[in-house]
Amino acid sequence: MDRALVWDRGTLKLLDQSVLPHQTRVVACATADEVADAIRTMKVRGAPAIGAAAAYGLVLAAQTAATADPPMLRAHLDTAAQMLLGTRPTAVNLRWAVERMLAVAGRVAWRSGGDLVEALLAEAQRICEQDVRTNRAIGANGAALIRPGERILTYCNTGSLATVDYGTALGIIRAAHEQGKRIQVFVSETRPLLQGARLTAWEVLRYGIPATLIADNAAAWLMRQGLIDRVVVGADRVAANGDTANKIGTYGLAVLARAHEIPFLVAAPLSTVDFRAPDGSAIPIEERPPEEVTHVAGVPVAPEGIAAANPAFDITPHHLITAIVTEAGVATPPYTRSLLDLSATRAGR
Ligand code: MRU
Repeated sequence: MDRALVWDRGTLKLLDQSVLPHQTRVVACATADEVADAIRTMKVRGAPAIGAAAAYGLVLAAQTAATADPPMLRAHLDTAAQMLLGTRPTAVNLRWAVERMLAVAGRVAWRSGGDLVEALLAEAQRICEQDVRTNRAIGANGAALIRPGERILTYCNTGSLATVDYGTALGIIRAAHEQGKRIQVFVSETRPLLQGARLTAWEVLRYGIPATLIADNAAAWLMRQGLIDRVVVGADRVAANGDTANKIGTYGLAVLARAHEIPFLVAAPLSTVDFRAPDGSAIPIEERPPEEVTHVAGVPVAPEGIAAANPAFDITPHHLITAIVTEAGVATPPYTRSLLDLSATRAGR
């Protein structure tokens, strides 16, 4: 399977990211509950991929409903939507996709369950196609900022696996590489779940991008030695003022980048910008099970009985971000203005 998620004759197939790169396992989801479970357990992950998976989850909810009665079917869909929304609270693409799907359900005149499934499936497919186009545009807009020979530090996984295809922050890196800019990438491992070491390292090897894996705590020292020219990361939710939620550890990298006068770029589709959140304090931060910290790949690395905190994301304040690259262009400070302008440009297209 080439993509993180594929709709295949009535089921959603996911490349199980919880076991990559050492196992290639495809899980098939036939119900919305199975999709919700796959999102919760991070078999599918990354903000845009979660949104797309949830969209298909609602197709499955309509497809498996035990009723053909429109009001009951609608209630069933709303229940499934709530369940999907409850899986991971930080990535706003989940809410964006679910709201898009529910809007379709409310808009189309469906006389049977079959009509509804068809309309929902068409919308889920539009979300996926749009995501790929969006990522290509982010890649092109971001690559224009990269100078030949740059050494770029990236964090977590923001590539094909985290999206429908191509990626956001990793999309910029891919585009710069494809343009022959002779870039080098430093991939930070990204504890606790090692999305950098397991997933980004796997992707850059496939694309032939020169890359070096580092432990998260090596970043400061590499910067100090002048080995990093730019940091490029993704986002799970960007507030209206540019404050950005991304994988825990992103904030620390932004502080380090500022201390070493290194540009810090965020890549995000406009679907990741939450204009309902005025600033980062309005973004919920997901707390995940402590076992993800006390264990690595299921093996205990800490004494039994120790308490562990596991916030999955942090907020990078907007003043530490040099620019936010979207599909509609590059937002620069003040973000309250530039993000709105880009969003208006896109809506007017
Ligand atoms: O917990 P994860 O692996 O879903 O977190 C993913 C990230 O933090 C990504 O940087 C973000 O979703 C952007 S993916 C294009």
